[in-house]
Amino acid sequence: MNQEILDSGFIPNEICEKLPSGFDDIEKLASELPKVLANEQIVQRVKQLESNKDISQLTLSELERAMLLYSYIAHAYMWGKKEVENIIPSQLSLTWFAISEKLDRPPILSYASYALNNWKMLDETKPFDLENIVIMQNFLGGVDEDWFIMIHVAIEYEAKEILSNLKSYFLEEKLDQSYLLNSLESIQKINSIMNRMPEKCDPFIYYNRVRPYIFGWKNNPATPDGVIYEGVEQFSGEPQLFRGETGAQSSIVPALDALLGITHSNDPLREYLDEMRLYMPKEHRDLLNGLDEWSEKDRRKLDIDEESIKSINDLIKEVHIFRNKHLEYARVYIYEQSLTNNSNSNIVGTGGTPFMKYLDKHLQETVPTND
Ligand code: HEM
Repeated sequence: MNQEILDSGFIPNEICEKLPSGFDDIEKLASELPKVLANEQIVQRVKQLESNKDISQLTLSELERAMLLYSYIAHAYMWGKKEVENIIPSQLSLTWFAISEKLDRPPILSYASYALNNWKMLDETKPFDLENIVIMQNFLGGVDEDWFIMIHVAIEYEAKEILSNLKSYFLEEKLDQSYLLNSLESIQKINSIMNRMPEKCDPFIYYNRVRPYIFGWKNNPATPDGVIYEGVEQFSGEPQLFRGETGAQSSIVPALDALLGITHSNDPLREYLDEMRLYMPKEHRDLLNGLDEWSEKDRRKLDIDEESIKSINDLIKEVHIFRNKHLEYARVYIYEQSLTNNSNSNIVGTGGTPFMKYLDKHLQETVPTND
């Protein structure tokens, strides 16, 4: 298990802001996406793109940017037309598929593109701060869409602190309570960032203007049989079913569950969360699988003192507070909106789960086990 990742968190060290010149048409369309969507010009614009680009010279951070741009344009194509079609044209599908093969995750908008690789600092001379984040790519744009993503980015950035401290305590077996106290301070900061979601992301705007573009094609009534990626030989013309973008593809919470010994009995959300790992960057997926194995086999062997057990329980309480706030957002931003609104009334998450019941179950399971 490559546990070094925990030192820098799941945010990449290097984020590409612009692709080399062969991708100018993609960069241009992506930068104009809010206007193109407002004017309903996405079909014409996609048809003008060069298909099957050479991606062999792209670096890892460039591949991530290419994945981000193709994912945004393809989701705009899918959800930005009056009539939903079940085919992604070859101008997008061929290059998108090739990039996804290289990155080893499906050709669909994932959290890694939507949040982890989608930001830069407004003022590089100033320290990282929620107010100093700029979101690089939008669908429609606007403060609600930006803020929704900025909150995720700020949480990921702060999570470096808790993850590196818990690594020292549990994985390097330093067993010094100070690492747990640092972790506690960090998760309290994460919770205070989480609390700020309603400041600039309004539930109505989120539900009607932000969320519609991030849905996937699996378990989605709009695409019951999935979506065809035109010309992609490996798919043999068969429609594909991939899940949509969701915070459930963030590696922070599964890492905390494993490190702190929080377990969830089998249920559809747990199965779904396991499936979500396929949509994460490969090294994050491998790390989480390694952490789960460690949690099952080696966690109990640690000789933890009474004071540290108290701190671990305090940490679990903070994860409970996070899940509780999160459940409130799922209710206010999605469930309640769906009751007053006819626009996209399927009451499953963007990933496609009946979420209220199971988010609540996972919340109830976030309790100390007194190990
Ligand atoms: C308005 C804000 C938010 C809403 C409405 C929301 C909604 C949802 C929904 C409906 C699910 C259920 C699974 C699915 O369908 O994908 C989910 C799962 C999840 N979301 Fe969010 N989310 C929000 C913000 C966040 C933030 C800021 C994070 C932080 C990284 C996050 C992390 C997660 C995690 C980790 C799960 C898996 C559930 C668990 O392990 O308990 N979400 N979210």
